[in-house]
Amino acid sequence: MLMYLIIFGALVSTTIAHEPFIVQFQWNYLNYTWPSEEAYLKADKDESYVEKNNIITGIKLWKDKMYLTIPRYRNGVPVTLAVTSSTPINGQTAPKLEPYPNWDMQRIGDCSAFQFVQSIEIDPKGRMWVLDTGRSTTMTFNMNTSCSPRLVILDIKNRGSVLRSYPFPIEVAHPESAFLNDIVIDHEDGGIAYIVDSDDKNPGIIVFSLQNNTSWKVSHESMKAKPDAIGFIIEQTRVTQSTPINGIALSPANTSGDRTLYYTPLSSFNIFAVPTKVLKSESLRDNIGQYIRVLGRKPSQTDGMMMSNTGILYFGLLADDAVSMWDSKNPSFVTGQRIISRDHHLMQWPTSFAFDERDQLWCITNRLHTFLDNSLNIEKPNFRAIMARVNMKSYQYFENGSSPELPTITAGVNSFSSHKELTIASLLTLLMVFIMH
Ligand SMILES: *[C@@H]1O[C@H](CO)[C@@H](O)[C@H](O)[C@H]1NC(C)=O
Ligand SMILES: *[C@@H]1O[C@H](CO)[C@@H](O)[C@H](O)[C@H]1NC(C)=O
Ligand SMILES: *[C@@H]1O[C@H](CO)[C@@H](O)[C@H](O)[C@H]1NC(C)=O
Ligand SMILES: *[C@@H]1O[C@H](CO)[C@@H](O)[C@H](O)[C@H]1NC(C)=O
Ligand SMILES: *[C@@H]1O[C@H](CO)[C@@H](O)[C@H](O)[C@H]1NC(C)=O
Ligand SMILES: *[C@@H]1O[C@H](CO)[C@@H](O)[C@H](O)[C@H]1NC(C)=O
Repeated sequence: MLMYLIIFGALVSTTIAHEPFIVQFQWNYLNYTWPSEEAYLKADKDESYVEKNNIITGIKLWKDKMYLTIPRYRNGVPVTLAVTSSTPINGQTAPKLEPYPNWDMQRIGDCSAFQFVQSIEIDPKGRMWVLDTGRSTTMTFNMNTSCSPRLVILDIKNRGSVLRSYPFPIEVAHPESAFLNDIVIDHEDGGIAYIVDSDDKNPGIIVFSLQNNTSWKVSHESMKAKPDAIGFIIEQTRVTQSTPINGIALSPANTSGDRTLYYTPLSSFNIFAVPTKVLKSESLRDNIGQYIRVLGRKPSQTDGMMMSNTGILYFGLLADDAVSMWDSKNPSFVTGQRIISRDHHLMQWPTSFAFDERDQLWCITNRLHTFLDNSLNIEKPNFRAIMARVNMKSYQYFENGSSPELPTITAGVNSFSSHKELTIASLLTLLMVFIMH
C-alpha cells in the first residue's frame, strides 16, 4: 500500500508539477532610485534617461533579491544592471530599480564600469557572472564602440566587489560586432562559462576557463539564423530581424561530471545539443559537426531557455505567447515537448528564466516586439516578472538537490588577504570568548 502511494505520488508530482505562472511584478516603464531629485531632473533633461528605451532582458535571483539586466540598445539607459527585492515591498509591484552594485559601475564610456549588460548568471556561492558587450546604443546608427567585450565576476556577499575582469581577445569576441547574449556556468574543470555571442558576422559559443583565465570560440552552421524562420508575428506586430544563436541551456552534471549544452538561434525552429566535452577539447571541436544533435522541431522561435537540476528544459515560444517544457529523460523531443503556460496578454516574449532558492521558476516577459517596432507604450504594462512553483532547482545543482563543490575565485591579493585577516581575527575573538567562559 505504501509502495502504491509512493508511486502514485510520484506520478502526480510529475503531472501537477506546473502550477500556473503568477505575475509578481509588472512595470509600464523602468525608473530608478536616483541619488537626488536634481540627478533625475538633469538626466531627464539631457536625455541620459529616456523612459521608453529602458527594457528588462535578464533575471537571476539570489537570497531575497532579484537582479535584472537592462541592455543599452538605445540612448537614455542610465542603469544596465539593477537590483530590487524579490517580493513586493508595501504592495509595490513596479518598484524603482537600484543600480547594481552602484551608480559608478553604470558610467557610459568608463571601461571599468558596465556598458551593456544583456545577461548574468549567479552561482550557488553568490558570485555573479556578468556579460558586458562593451558598446552602447547598439540598435542605433551612432553606436559607441568604446570598450572590450568582457566577463566580470562580482561577489554579491561582498557588496558586489569585482573578483575577476576578463576582456575577451579580439579573435574571440570582436569589439565592433560581438553581442554577448547569454551565459551558463559549469563547476567542472576549475569552472567554465559557456557564452552566446550573437555576432551577426561570426555567431558562436565562447568557452571561458576560470582556472586558466583563457577563452576560445566555437562556431558552426547550426548557430546561424535560418532564412525560413526569420519573420513571425506577435499581437499584429511583425518581427523581421534575423538573429543567430541566442538561447542556451546547460544540463545538470551527470555522475561522471559531463553535461550537454542546448542552444537555438532565435531565427530557427530547432534546438541543438552538444556534449560540453566537445566544446572544451581542442581536438574534438575541430569536428564539432559530428557531435551536434538536432533535437527536433518546435512550433515557434525561442529567446530564453533554462534547464532544471532534474533535466527539464524550459523554453519560450515567441509567436505563441507561451512557455514550453521537455523532460530530457524522454528521448523524443518532438513528442515529449509540452506547452505549460500560454497567455496572449501576460506572456508576450518570454526572454529570460531563473530559479530561486524556494524552488520556484521565474520568467521575464518583455514585449520586445513593441520595442523593436518603436511602438512601446509607457501607459501600459510592458515588462512582467512571472513565477511558478515547480519544486526544482537550477541546472547548477545535482539532481539530488545538493550543491557541487565550486571553485574559489579570489580577487586581487590585497582584498584577499584583508578578508583572510578579518576571518582569522574573528576566529580569534570567538576563541577568546570561548576560553574566557
Ligand atoms: C522617477 O523617479 C524620480 C525620483 O524618485 C521621480 O521624481 C520621477 O517623477 C520619476 N519619473 C517618472 C517618469 O516616473
Ligand atoms: C558615447 O560615449 C561617450 C563617452 O565615451 C559619451 O559621452 C556619449 O554620451 C556616448 N553616447 C551615447 C549615445 O551613449
Ligand atoms: C585574466 O586575464 C585578463 C586578460 O588577459 C587579465 O586582465 C586578468 O588580470 C587575468 N586575471 C587573472 C586572475 O589572471
Ligand atoms: C588549463 O590548462 C591546463 C594546463 O595547460 C590544461 O591541462 C587544462 O586542460 C586547461 N583547462 C581547460 C578547461 O582548458
Ligand atoms: C548528490 O549527487 C552527487 C552527484 O551525483 C553526489 O556527488 C553527492 O554525494 C550526492 N549527495 C547526496 C547527499 O546524496
Ligand atoms: C555522462 O554523459 C556523458 C556525455 O553525454 C556520457 O558519455 C557518459 O556516459 C555519462 N555518464 C554517465 C555515468 O551517465
